[in-house]
Amino acid sequence: MKIQPKNRKLGILLSGRGSNFEAIVTSIAYRSLEAEISVVISNVETAPGLARARELGIPTAYVPSKGNSREQFDSQLLEILQSHDVGLVILAGFMRIVGRSMIEAYPNLILNIHPALLPSFPGLDVQKQALLYGVKIAGCTVHIVSDTVDGGPIVLQAAVPVENDDSVEVLSARILKEEHRIYSQAIALLLSGHCELQGRRIIVRD
Ligand code: GRF
Repeated sequence: MKIQPKNRKLGILLSGRGSNFEAIVTSIAYRSLEAEISVVISNVETAPGLARARELGIPTAYVPSKGNSREQFDSQLLEILQSHDVGLVILAGFMRIVGRSMIEAYPNLILNIHPALLPSFPGLDVQKQALLYGVKIAGCTVHIVSDTVDGGPIVLQAAVPVENDDSVEVLSARILKEEHRIYSQAIALLLSGHCELQGRRIIVRD
């Protein structure tokens, strides 16, 4: 099955710092990514990423998750995404599980970045888990969002070495650098219309 977003308009969902969002902004500015950020949405009113989007003059929205049921929250997100004509949804440090209605409205058109080499270490605090486990290679994964947390088809991955003296912070920073590199690449791949989904595999055809 071919994956083809209807346009190049991105909707970014974030809950915090927003460094991946900024890396995407930079890729667009340098024209290594041909896309437009139509809206940045956060469930955290004070998220630095949301403030940065405002500074950049990008439309933003705050959708509180507290006091909202999953369905209400998702339908508010959807309404905003659709009103900005978003073709591809980008989770960039979005600390909420995306519900079924979102996945059905954007089939294979929601991307997430995870700071581990999936399927190893899904979930939270994964750089710490990787260190404690003693892996020698860590990394990050861009994947399509499915109804299994961190379980959807993989678009791109990047590996980094784990060094003897690494702290969680040092390893996280090494991984984050790769996140910033591959997220824009993965978005460009999906927007190219050259991606095909075969089972769990994403095949890129020229
Ligand atoms: C990143 O490590 C990303 O992999 C994870 O959340 C973090 C978000 O960082 N999903 P930032 O907000 O993009 O700086």
